[in-house]
Amino acid sequence: MIDVKNLRKEFKKTIKEPGLKGSFKSLFKPQTKRVVAVDDISFEVPKGEILGFIGPNGAGKSTVIKMLTGILTPTSGKCEINGKNPTENRKSYVREIGVVFGQRTQLWWDLPLRETYSVLKEIYEVPDDRFKSRMSFLNEVLELDDFITSPVRTLSLGQRMRADIAASLLHSPKVLFLDEPTIGLDVVVKENIRNAIEHINKQEKTTVILTTHDLADIEALSNRIVMIDKGRNVFDGTVSELKTKYGQIRELHFETEERNAAQALCYEKLFGGNIGGLTLEQEGKAVKARFDSSVVPVSEMLAYTLSRINVTDISVRDADIEEIIRRLYQQGVSE
Ligand SMILES: Nc1ncnc2c1ncn2[C@@H]1O[C@H](COP(=O)(O)OP(=O)(O)OP(=O)(O)O)[C@@H](O)[C@H]1O
Ligand SMILES: [Mg+2]
Repeated sequence: MIDVKNLRKEFKKTIKEPGLKGSFKSLFKPQTKRVVAVDDISFEVPKGEILGFIGPNGAGKSTVIKMLTGILTPTSGKCEINGKNPTENRKSYVREIGVVFGQRTQLWWDLPLRETYSVLKEIYEVPDDRFKSRMSFLNEVLELDDFITSPVRTLSLGQRMRADIAASLLHSPKVLFLDEPTIGLDVVVKENIRNAIEHINKQEKTTVILTTHDLADIEALSNRIVMIDKGRNVFDGTVSELKTKYGQIRELHFETEERNAAQALCYEKLFGGNIGGLTLEQEGKAVKARFDSSVVPVSEMLAYTLSRINVTDISVRDADIEEIIRRLYQQGVSE
């Protein structure tokens, strides 16, 4: 179980006045400024869950992961993984966790992949027979065979990511931290990586914290989401709770012969222009209008549209999770 309570991290940043004089001054009398990267974050993750840990750029996700993995020491607050504090008992703690930072590899650049795993075997003291069976399992799930003899520096990004994930799993950790494991990958490789994560979670009951900007990862893998912004919690719940809570966004789809539907409809006239971010896109006959049903009720939207132009094939759909989260990131959340 992962237990995070009122976690906070401040960094001291050196500020330098411009010019040579400034450099000189900052060398001898450095001026520092406090940066609050993580303000106040709390959440719990039960064993075996895949938690989607999301938020806009700079929200503090990687800093939280670094505190959970013991790379950074919190300024205040609690983080405990299976009753252990990540910064104490480092040696026994690292055996229980696996970590992947998608932005940079943790593998040795010049070593052939196979040897990298042999080094890790020694570091984690994995017995020979266990290592053998583990390697064949990881080979099967992550398809490492094609490049296992190549030096890491020659691997493609997708191969490198699979290799990194295998490395993080070699010692059968109970908890796996994945910070953007699908960043920069094509759709096919993304899909392979998702399948591998799902397989390992199901087979070994590994608890996973997954950070991503690709919401398809979340939809495929995690039932629960913790969303943060500016170092604070903004949402904690299931994907369907998120949809219920913020999912008043609807899409009206229809076809029309009207070549400029926006002009003909003139939605600005609805409610005297108070239409809450209503947008309209047209491609040939197909029109999609996106609106907030808490501002413009569905019935009003339908009645108004039908009264102004001739349409066929009209339907109203829920916005998908991608759209809800895009709006939350843009507008912020007030709870
Ligand atoms: N070592 C550091 N020194 C100073 N500030 C830092 C340091 N590390 C992170 N920060 C700041 O803390 C804030 C949170 O950064 P963090 O990397 O945790 O965000 P993130 O949610 O992972 O973003 P992204 O989605 O872009 O990866 C940012 O404003 C960042 O500039
Ligand atoms: Mg990050």
